[in-house]
Amino acid sequence: MNNLILPVNSFADERGILSTIESGRTVPFDIKRVYFLAKLKSDEPRGFHAHKELNQFAICLSGSCRFIMDDGKEKKEFILNNSNKGILIEKLVWHEMHDFSDDCVLLVLASDHYLESDYIRNYEDFKKAVK
Ligand code: TYD
Repeated sequence: MNNLILPVNSFADERGILSTIESGRTVPFDIKRVYFLAKLKSDEPRGFHAHKELNQFAICLSGSCRFIMDDGKEKKEFILNNSNKGILIEKLVWHEMHDFSDDCVLLVLASDHYLESDYIRNYEDFKKAVK
């Protein structure tokens, strides 16, 4: 797995922080959809799927959470706890999100519209797809 953590441009001063994300610059795809997750529960992990074609980029805008990324060959863990970086969730990567802090807000930028048929929700199907 390549480096999945990418920097997010942040301009911090005494007034606060302004951060920017641009298609083709910050993230290596065109952004077609934005969604966010909030009011998450620490003991209710999410994800547990891969996508056939979709590429995504997730930023923890506040709080923290732990990602498990699995490309079928290796598994890696990442803690997101700062909005000055994000994690690239490329197609055909099984991903899980765990250990959400109470204040966790997760912003996700996606390369396409929502399409249920792009999901691989069964781990055995995922293993077959990456073979
Ligand atoms: P899902 O992707 O399964 O969530 P998670 O991986 O975080 O557990 O999505 C949860 C529900 O939201 C599911 O019914 C599909 C719906 N949904 C949309 O309608 N549009 C979207 O852009 C997303 C991401 C989900």
